Amino acid sequence: MPESLLAAALAVRENAFAPFSKFKVGAALEDVDGGIHTGCNVENATYGLTICAERVAMFKALSEGHRSFVSVAVVADTADPTPPCGACRQILWEFGGDLEVYLADLTEHKGTYRMTDLLPLPFDGRLL
Ligand code: THU
Repeated sequence: MPESLLAAALAVRENAFAPFSKFKVGAALEDVDGGIHTGCNVENATYGLTICAERVAMFKALSEGHRSFVSVAVVADTADPTPPCGACRQILWEFGGDLEVYLADLTEHKGTYRMTDLLPLPFDGRLL
């Protein structure tokens, strides 16, 4: 797994705004040109408008004009690695396709997955 991607996810996790859950997450998305786009979770007082690190990273990248991606790293401080939630799987799949997904804690890479394994029967634009 690219160490620079993990390092970027670890660093941006420090910016997480998570006063309600105290659960800080960092994500780093690699585009086809090797660019890295980071995101952290941002909570708010309604709770429900919270946005996860993975979607922040993807929306930042999309808003900068990037459209093709190869991998994403997710870092959280948990014994078992933190995988993307269902909403994030949908967005990562629709905009990133079959990304490699690296999961890590604060010290090491814990596992590598593919989006097709995390979201095996996706709904997407091909069905519309
Ligand atoms: N969270 C993420 O940012 N990404 C994940 O993969 C799982 C959950 C955030 C959302 C919320 O701010 C906190 O973690 C607890 O659910």
